[in-house]
Parts: sequence; structure tokens; C-alpha cells
Amino acid sequence: MKTQDELKKIAGYKAAELVEDGMIVGLGTGTTVRYLLDALGERIKNDGMHFTGVPTSKRTADYGANLGMTIKSLDEVDRMDITIDGADEIDRELNGIKGGGGAQTWEKLVAVNSKQVAWIVDESKMVDQLGKFPLPVEVLAYGHHQLVERLTDLGYNPVIRVRDGETFYTDEGNIIVDLHMDHINDPDALADALSNMTGVVEHGLFLHMTQTVVVGTQDGAKVIT
Ligand code: A5P
Repeated sequence: MKTQDELKKIAGYKAAELVEDGMIVGLGTGTTVRYLLDALGERIKNDGMHFTGVPTSKRTADYGANLGMTIKSLDEVDRMDITIDGADEIDRELNGIKGGGGAQTWEKLVAVNSKQVAWIVDESKMVDQLGKFPLPVEVLAYGHHQLVERLTDLGYNPVIRVRDGETFYTDEGNIIVDLHMDHINDPDALADALSNMTGVVEHGLFLHMTQTVVVGTQDGAKVIT
């Protein structure tokens, strides 16, 4: 029986095959993406492959640069040929929840400016309905107590994210509020409602933007399109 970590590695290494020489590649964030970066680093070292990586977090930028990748910010490029990223939950329509690592705003900015988006996950992330994983919402720190009250009134069960006993701040200096909804019946309606709330910077519902999912399973890598 392979561990969850081994399944993440299977997905990350398989997805590295989607990257071709000369591409501009959006690089996601998280533990699964680390394996993708390791695999790409090996291709740079062993095959002399060259591509430009556009990171979705400072963590990914540092990790990729250490592996010899050319790193550029979103502001220095036009469109990405492909973005490969992790996800927290994915349903049968390839809609997903992201932001477990708090990077969803940059992740979505890079994804929407990509010709193709692929996600890499271990098989535990594939679900029938989104919502068991708390939905991350990045909000401005200014006025966040009132916003949390509004989210509570709507029945979304918001919890301000804390790490090591301290409020968690994103790369942009904002706060994350995780919505413990258990199930999301209408992801499009929820996405619209959240996008329309003043103080919300970005939410972790990634809908209708991913064409390919590479799943690490006990039987090897499975590619869903
Ligand atoms: C980062 O903010 C997230 O969107 C990650 O991509 C997601 O949480 C998946 O992370 P893991 O690969 O670490 O599970």
C-alpha cells in the first residue's frame, strides 16, 4: 500500500511530462507541487531542458530557483502555456477547492492567464461533492471582524485561520477565513456570492478552468480530461 505522499509524488512526476522545452509554465504551490518541481529540476539538470516558471507563491519561487529554474513574475510575462497546481478537493466536473496553503489568489491569477490548467492530486482529493474541505477565503485585514459576522449570518461557518497560535497572513498581507460548510450544493452561486462581498480578495473555488487532472492512485498515475 503506497502512502499519500508516494501518491503525490506519482502525480507530480507524471505531470512534469506535460512541460515542454521553451514553455512559460505556471507553478502552483503545496506539497504535491514540490514533487513536480523536483521532477522538472531533474529534467533541467539531466536533459538541459529550459522553461520559464511563473510561481504562485514565494515558497515556490524560492524552491524552483534553487533547482535552477528561470523564475519570472506574472507581471513580466504575457500568458502561461500551462499551469500545473495542486488542489484540496476536486469533483467529477473538475471543479475544485484550493487555498489550503493560503496561496489561492496568486494561484487563480496565474491559472486564469494560462492556456491550459492541470491539477495534480493524490486520489483522496477526488470527491463527489465539494465542501468537506473548508473553503479558504482571502480577506482584507481591515474590517475583517465585520466581514466574518456577515459570513456567519449567511450560515457559512467562518473560522479565521491561525498558524502556530498566530493569525495567518498571506503573501499579500491578507487574512484567510476558512468556511466550514461540509457540502456546497451550488458552487457557482457561492462563488458569485463571495466575489460580490466587499472585503473579500479572492475565494478558493476554482470553477470551469481546469482541463486535466493527474491523479496518483495505488495503480499508478491516472490522467482525467
Ligand atoms: C495552496 O494554497 C493550495 O491551493 C494547494 O495547491 C493545495 O492546498 C494542495 O496542497 P497539497 O499538494 O500540499 O495537498
